[in-house]
Amino acid sequence: MTHEEEKRRAARAALSHIQSGMVVGLGSGSTASYFVEYLAEALRRGDLQNVVGVPTSRRTAQLAHDLGIPLATLDTYSYVDVAVDGADEVDPRLNLIKGRGRALVREKIVAVHARRFIVIVDASKLVDTLGVHGPLPVEVVPFGAAATARWMATLGCRPEFVREPHGALYRSDNGNYQILCHFDAGIEDPQALARTLKSRPGVVDHGLFLGMAHQVIMGEPTGVRVLEREP
Ligand code: A5P
Repeated sequence: MTHEEEKRRAARAALSHIQSGMVVGLGSGSTASYFVEYLAEALRRGDLQNVVGVPTSRRTAQLAHDLGIPLATLDTYSYVDVAVDGADEVDPRLNLIKGRGRALVREKIVAVHARRFIVIVDASKLVDTLGVHGPLPVEVVPFGAAATARWMATLGCRPEFVREPHGALYRSDNGNYQILCHFDAGIEDPQALARTLKSRPGVVDHGLFLGMAHQVIMGEPTGVRVLEREP
């Protein structure tokens, strides 16, 4: 079984948490896209009705729109009933790294307004220590971005600006830059790092989603494994 099939399994399983009439946060990335496709199918078949999606990126908004899912924003709804999104890494406490698919700011805003935040991943995403398998994405305002990156290096990471294929600096849906922070030995204290990053002027937000996921649905070769956050 490939990672893609595991992602599909997790996405299909998440659909059972959606009921007619719900406002649903639509995540970004390949696994979340599978969920959007399954949700659209369920609406087309009439298995679900009156579901409204709140997308976390322009790309997801486009996909959902193309598939006929009615869309809204948090300007209309103060909360979403369920948000379903992927993740880059999940640790045993259901803390996450997100944003390598570049949509972390909107993803975090939708997740924090979700009554239930469900994360769907393939089995390769489970790690003992966050940051071991890849970098932590951080969104920064363009003004002073090089200085912000140099400050990040003092936190023990190797900062790398995200670039477009032709070399220009990538701009997020919010018009900001993104910096990938490579912690080669992983992130020793995610809570402390999250606080430090968040309190720095110039940093918009970071990809550490700590204590936010209520449930992680992990696709595996034999089925799905469901991890629930401890109360
Ligand atoms: C998007 O910005 C990310 O947070 C994604 O949720 C994350 O990168 C997982 O993506 P895949 O589902 O494509 O692995």
